[in-house]
Amino acid sequence: MFIMRLKNKLLTNLRRETKEVKQDLRRDWGEDFYECIKDIAEHPVVLRMKLYPHHGHTNCYQHCLHVAYYNYVLCRFFQLDARSAARGGMLHDLFLYDWHTHAARTGDHFHGMTHPACAHKHAKKFFELNHIQEDVIKNHMWPVTLFHFPRTKEGWITTLTDKYCGTLETSQR
Ligand SMILES: [Fe+2]
Ligand SMILES: [Fe+2]
Repeated sequence: MFIMRLKNKLLTNLRRETKEVKQDLRRDWGEDFYECIKDIAEHPVVLRMKLYPHHGHTNCYQHCLHVAYYNYVLCRFFQLDARSAARGGMLHDLFLYDWHTHAARTGDHFHGMTHPACAHKHAKKFFELNHIQEDVIKNHMWPVTLFHFPRTKEGWITTLTDKYCGTLETSQR
């Protein structure tokens, strides 16, 4: 009886400690994440993404923030360049138009293939990009973009986080 009670107490303590470590980690990583993207997330051009709807009820800004966060967490976990992955993620859909009406307005029926180049053009105009950030932005749509595939691990991770976030956002209509 005593052994059982001791075992239960130890298990409860262990669970509580694990929960606390997880909460600390989440808070610390969240703060570190925002520190990495703060200048981008608060830039007036980037804030304009809030005007454009993206998946479901999510606008472009929210979607980029989601992708940037998952990029950061995954890349930090795998000891990759989490900062570049987060910054690239925050800029990867900086195309600055409503893609739902884009084809009717411009005749461009290939938004899925053309918007990474558009986002890259805007991003490099306002921010200094390293080769990982360029890769994340230019190649995030693979396999839609066929021969434009990622050259970095952070770029490959973005092809997954982008689709994961897009699917979740769309399903929460
Ligand atoms: Fe995109
Ligand atoms: Fe995206």
